[in-house]
Amino acid sequence: MAYNGGMPAPQEKSGGPRIVVSGNGTELTESVAAALAARLGLPLLARGIEGSVAADLVLCIGARGLELVDPASRPSAGVHVDLVRGATGHRRRSGLSRSQPIGRAVGFRHGPPTLVDATAGLGRDAFLLACLGCTVVAVERSPVLAALLEDGLGRARASGDAALTAVVDRISLRVGDARSLLACLPPADRPDVVYLDPMYPHEERSALAKKEMRVCRMLVGDDADAGELLRLARSVARRRVVLKRHRLAPALADDVSIRYTGRSVRYDVYLTGTERPGEE
Ligand SMILES: C[S@@+](CC[C@H](N)C(=O)[O-])C[C@H]1O[C@@H](n2cnc3c(N)ncnc32)[C@H](O)[C@@H]1O
Repeated sequence: MAYNGGMPAPQEKSGGPRIVVSGNGTELTESVAAALAARLGLPLLARGIEGSVAADLVLCIGARGLELVDPASRPSAGVHVDLVRGATGHRRRSGLSRSQPIGRAVGFRHGPPTLVDATAGLGRDAFLLACLGCTVVAVERSPVLAALLEDGLGRARASGDAALTAVVDRISLRVGDARSLLACLPPADRPDVVYLDPMYPHEERSALAKKEMRVCRMLVGDDADAGELLRLARSVARRRVVLKRHRLAPALADDVSIRYTGRSVRYDVYLTGTERPGEE
């Protein structure tokens, strides 16, 4: 995982859930788990997740790759990043179009934009944008979520699918707070677009996203500093900032330039360059 020079070493929020790392009993997964536990500064569980586990979440290395499991729910209900199969992989194979709301929001009039996804989470949006041709720097401040995303990107690269490899090669992952990254960006590295999808209180999305959202919320809580991130993003993006919100949520800043509304989400676009609404 890349740690940007300008960003302090990331840590999970203090007072967050107790997390342990576990292999699945094989020599290989146990040694990978030990290395990951050391890297993330988390305790290592020296056996599988059966039996009682004194933790709120288990970061488990098994047949499906790296998975974040709530020991109180079914073992199959873990959160992991699958860009090969899964809903995200399926979306790629079934064809994506730049005329969808997310594509129109980031804007392709000048060709595929360079983009910082400052709230990468599990990387679904970063992946969709890379599928559409964008070059994406994906920034995530939760080291555990970043580890899940790194694992998913790695398995996609190892899949042997050349088209998929080309997509994930357009994504580079940074672990840390995007506010630090954006504040220290040299002018030459300023992206065309900064994309934001912060956590909001009481968000409701699809059934799959709900499971992920519940575990992610346990980990990262609500992103109460989203307003500050938006202000910084607007000072850095060459063309626009795209803020994803629930369809019915109030705007985070009132001077939205353009809105694209999908079935359940809305993209509020804040133009930062010379483009005017209607020219996109
Ligand atoms: C709703 S999730 C994003 C989901 C993502 N768009 C996806 O497609 O999977 C919000 C994520 O943004 C991250 N985040 C919020 N503020 C951040 C910041 N300033 N720097 C880095 N990550 C941030 C949170 O840790 C959380 O994982």
